[in-house]
Amino acid sequence: MASITVPHALMLERILSLEIVRVTERAAVNAARLRGRGDEKAADQAAVDAMRRELNNLPIDGTVVIGEGEMDEAPMLFIGERVGSKAGFKVDIAVDPLEGTTLCAKNMPGAIATLAIAEDGTLLHAPDIYMDKIAVGPGYPGGVVDLDAPAGDNILNLAKAKGVRPHAITAMILDRPRHADLIAAVRKAGAAVSLITDGDIAGVIHTAEPDKTGIDIYLGIGGAPEGVLAAAALRCIGGQMQCRLVLDTEEKRARAVKMGIADPRRKYRIEDMVRGDCLFAATGVTDGRMLRGVKFGNRVIETETVVMRSVTGTVRWIHAEHRQLEKF
Ligand code: FBP
Repeated sequence: MASITVPHALMLERILSLEIVRVTERAAVNAARLRGRGDEKAADQAAVDAMRRELNNLPIDGTVVIGEGEMDEAPMLFIGERVGSKAGFKVDIAVDPLEGTTLCAKNMPGAIATLAIAEDGTLLHAPDIYMDKIAVGPGYPGGVVDLDAPAGDNILNLAKAKGVRPHAITAMILDRPRHADLIAAVRKAGAAVSLITDGDIAGVIHTAEPDKTGIDIYLGIGGAPEGVLAAAALRCIGGQMQCRLVLDTEEKRARAVKMGIADPRRKYRIEDMVRGDCLFAATGVTDGRMLRGVKFGNRVIETETVVMRSVTGTVRWIHAEHRQLEKF
């Protein structure tokens, strides 16, 4: 029988799709130890330390493209930092070691540790500013919703495409004063609004499985780094997303230009933010709609992780029981 040669990059990606689980698991466990302590910074730092340590064990030559900030403001996992054994495959890395720092500090639902790995030079270098976002799950015709259309039209078009009345549509939105008009417009169109206090990466991912999550569409302004991570997840599982950076000051426009963004009004689609194959992983820190949080037992620490791969669209849900507690 003829043997099949699997290209090195693909093989490595297969191996990495399990290896990256360890990275988000360790970050989640470290952050979870500080759940409910009211200290966002300490929880974030704990997640960053663990994620960086584990990333450096991977057989990759990785560059952090979406990280904890620019070099002078983030001592670790800063944008441009090289991670991994540095001997392996060149990749772009997007990290949010603790997405939902406040959720973790207050021990509220939905904090996660998350990471995406993509082909070298394929992730959007987004500054740490706001981004306007709209996302729906797979199965709809292209352009069913549009970032530039009025929110009410998006709800009506989505309802039509889904074959339901607008009142059967639920939009997830961050609960912020800046979204008051958006929330009013969605409600006026007849849809329900599900408000979250934090965590729009999971918010976008929820749209991929509306039957399970009850969320049909994600709308509103959140972090640009979170936008790129969410785009990586949708690149694996399907769906549509459009985003635009909120460049409302000269200082932000200058930062964006420095990061290679030439057109400040550009509307990014998933394939503009993640231009090649990628892997995405997230582990629950606190219990949430998407993932269970870390459970600390006497002899076992339990974690739940979702890991996705764009080449195949495979999504793995990994419930892990860790017994070598000294490793955490
Ligand atoms: P952090 O983990 O950095 O606190 O981010 C949480 C988050 O809710 C993101 O999910 C979201 O994109 C962003 O903050 C929204 O920013 P803001 O809190 O300034 O509205």
